[in-house]
Amino acid sequence: MTAQKTELQELPADLKRELLPKHVAVICDGNGRWAKRQGIPRFLGHQRGVDALKDLLRCCDDWGIGALTAYAFSTENWGRPQEEVDFLMTLFGRVLRQELREMIEENIQIKFVGNLTALPKSLQAEISRSMEETKGNRGIRFTVATNYGGRQEILHACHVIAQQVQQGLLQPDEIDETTFERHLYTAGICDPDLLIRTSGEMRLSNFLLWQTAYAEIYITETLWPDFNRSEFHHALCAYQQRERRFGKVPHISPES
Ligand code: IPE
Ligand code: IPE
Ligand code: MG
Repeated sequence: MTAQKTELQELPADLKRELLPKHVAVICDGNGRWAKRQGIPRFLGHQRGVDALKDLLRCCDDWGIGALTAYAFSTENWGRPQEEVDFLMTLFGRVLRQELREMIEENIQIKFVGNLTALPKSLQAEISRSMEETKGNRGIRFTVATNYGGRQEILHACHVIAQQVQQGLLQPDEIDETTFERHLYTAGICDPDLLIRTSGEMRLSNFLLWQTAYAEIYITETLWPDFNRSEFHHALCAYQQRERRFGKVPHISPES
């Protein structure tokens, strides 16, 4: 990985550094279809999906993007066959164990978001260890959404805020966007500028419902295990062509 890093660090010439997203979020979808196309079991698609994510993380780091958030497992994914769920939980734990040393060395700060208490205890232990051991790192912020659901996250924030109101610590009229965001799992991380979904589906599937209010959305037919640097480069080129208006009128030149 280190040799590759030296070769590929340069930002492609057609990308403008000042227009790069600060935070990229990805819905890593299409592992199953990728495996099906290869005529191999679904779980091998998930395994290849991990490689694609590792490469995207290094690419973001190389190109100076400060934060990457990946959707690894949704609150709805428990509804999959038990053997697929078990495989995914084991895979997450194994990858964390294998990758932690390198992430520490590369100054990556890893954080898991979602309802982590429902995950297998051994995975919870790996997650706590990885967050603890990288919390002092000041490089790219890598957030992994595991047992994550946007609705569940919003409800969780509501429960915490309601308790504070009940205890007299907070007045209802003090609840504004800033207070609310403080209770989301993503507190302290800026909202994603760019949301990428692979495999062509045109939906959010319960991902970052609050945080993506003004994210630019990029959807590609490419299946997640095939999403590489060149695909990411395309996504960033498309992003840099967008005019982000945030509800305001576009910039009008004095002549027009
Ligand atoms: C995304 O790939 C990975 C997870 C949800 C864990 P899928 O497993 O959803 O792949 P498809 O959508 O069936 O192709
Ligand atoms: C979204 O993909 C969840 C993850 C990528 C982890 P799904 O494959 O679960 O989404 P749907 O079912 O197509 O909406
Ligand atoms: Mg899917």
